[in-house]
Formats: sequence, C-alpha cells, structure tokens
Amino acid sequence: PQFTHFETQKPWVLYWNLNGLAALQNEDLLPPNIKKLLSDHLACLIQDSGAFGGSGKMEPHLLSSYAGVLAAVLLDREELWAKLDREKFKGFLKDMLIEPGKFVVNRHGEHDLRANFAAIVIGDILGFLDDPIFENVAEQILKCQTYEGGFGPIPNVEAHGGFTFCAIGALSLLKCLEKANVEKLTRWIVEKQTEFGGFCGRTGKLVDSCYSFWQAANFNILRDYFANREDHRISNLLYDIDGLQRYILVACQSPKGGLRDKPGKPEDIYHSMYSLLGLSLSFSHEEPQRNFAVFEGELNTELHPVISVPVEKYLKAKAYFANKK
Ligand code: FPP
Ligand code: ZN
Repeated sequence: PQFTHFETQKPWVLYWNLNGLAALQNEDLLPPNIKKLLSDHLACLIQDSGAFGGSGKMEPHLLSSYAGVLAAVLLDREELWAKLDREKFKGFLKDMLIEPGKFVVNRHGEHDLRANFAAIVIGDILGFLDDPIFENVAEQILKCQTYEGGFGPIPNVEAHGGFTFCAIGALSLLKCLEKANVEKLTRWIVEKQTEFGGFCGRTGKLVDSCYSFWQAANFNILRDYFANREDHRISNLLYDIDGLQRYILVACQSPKGGLRDKPGKPEDIYHSMYSLLGLSLSFSHEEPQRNFAVFEGELNTELHPVISVPVEKYLKAKAYFANKK
C-alpha cells in the first residue's frame, strides 16, 4: 500500500530504481526475464501520441516521457527502443508548445523549466535537437536567471537548485551556456553547500540529500564548460567533495538500507537514487586524496552529468536513434 501514491508515476519508479542499480553497478541483480517484463511494462505506458503516460491509459505527460525515455535507455533493449517513434515524439512536443520556447508538462498543464529541460533531453537522445520546435528555448531559459545567479522555474521567481540544473543542463546540451552569466551562477552554486557538507536548494533553506545531484551536477556541467574555454580557468574543487561524501554516507544512510533526505526522515527511492548519483559524480573529479570514502570499483563514476545515466548507455542509445534517421 505504501506504493499506491506512485501509481501515476510508473516511468519515474522504473527510472529511479534502474538508475540507482546502474550507479551501484548492480544491474546484474535483475535477471533477463525480469528486465523483459519491465521493458514490456514500460512499452505499455506509451500512449497513442507516442509519448509516455504515468500509468495505464493516462494522458501523455512530458515529465513521464522524460523518465520513460531514460528508463528505456537504461533497459538497453532494441525491442523497446524500436517502439519509441521519433516523428510521433516531435508531434507530441509540438503539442506541448504554448509559445515559441515554452513547453507545458501536459495538455492544460503548467510551464516551467522542468518542461523545457525534459523536451531538450528527449530531443537530444532521439536525435532531433536541431528541429525548429526548439527555437527560442534557450532565450526563454535565460530569462529565468535571477539577480542571485541561479535560475528560477519561470522569470522573476526565486533561484532554486533543481531549476538551475534544468537550465544549465539544457543550455549545455544546446551548446550555449556562455549566454548565461556564468560567473554569477558559479558564485550562487558555491554558496549552496551547507556547513553539513550537503547542499540546499535555495538561499537560507535546509540541506537535503537530493541536491547532492541537482546542485553537485552543476559543478560537473561547469567543469566541462570551462574545460573547453581558453579565456577562463577553473579549479575542479569548487565544492568540498569530502564534505558532500560525509553528508551522504554518514548522515543520510538509513539503518534499514537506502538513503534519506536528512536524519529523522525515512529513506526513499528518490533520495536514494539522487544521493547515489551525487556520490558517483563526486568521484569523477580529480584529486582522489580528498575523497572521504574509498569505493573499490563499486560505483559507476562515468555518469553523464546532464542526462544522469551512465555515459556508455547514453551514447549507445543515442547512436541507435541516430542510425534510424
Ligand atoms: C523541493 O522544493 C523540490 C525538489 C527537491 C526537486 C527539485 C528538482 C527539480 C525542480 C528538477 C526537476 C527535474 C526534472 C527533469 C523533473 P522545495 O521548495 O519543497 O524545497 P526547498 O525547501 O529545498 O527549496
Ligand atoms: Zn530532497
């Protein structure tokens, strides 16, 4: 019964679980027959429009589609990939456009940077990021950078780590992150690491382990951005990696297994997966002597910081869809 509230979020449940296992390099725990079952179940969530709904015959939803496409990448089965129809997805995304550069999450649903980000990730994986549907998306995103330096969900709303991740992840996939005020952005993100080692999402708010991904991934995106520029140099160590690892492993591990937002909260799959991703990314930086924790090959540290899944899986799926053009 504790899972009933996930009924309408089936693609998310699959994505969180599969990506958590991938981060732990534990996918072999899933026998092939179970993987096939999961894959068939995910395929059943594809609606007539080609996009994913949250459950059964629910209306297609952009965020369910984001999670569904990532779950399909993780399941790594061509039989399933063949059911993702690029042209239908383009049509669905066109239906989700309320004005140039602004997507809504579903028919009659809201617009914010999550919708824009989800659309860009789907376009990137399925190989149609050059489509006119994406005109003006970057401009709309740039309007959401606030006076603090982070990005809010829509223009003139408080900067938040999750939306900042959506903004700079999308801008980096669109190869135009330089259009943002990167200096102010960097300062804002640096200031979101708390005295507990973990990150908070907004100025003055509480630490929460899921920002170990939403905020810490921002450092990987910035690191990759600066690595390709001659005019700026940046240290890998803009945040206290050791402190983040301590927060995740010491404060957030539940005695029952799994990870939690913070001590006193129950463990859950959302925080387990995003903490593990943050932990993996924290090992992707140089200077391993600063690592509090030593994992001998147990974590997959080759995660794509924007797409969030192992780089190898992302590239394999992307190549499959590129060849189908
Ligand atoms: C809490 O806000 C919200 C979160 C912890 C999720 C943030 C993540 C995103 C917006 C990115 C989502 C991305 C996709 C692709 C769907 P709050 O105001 O309750 O918490 P706070 O007090 O920590 O600010
Ligand atoms: Zn959280």
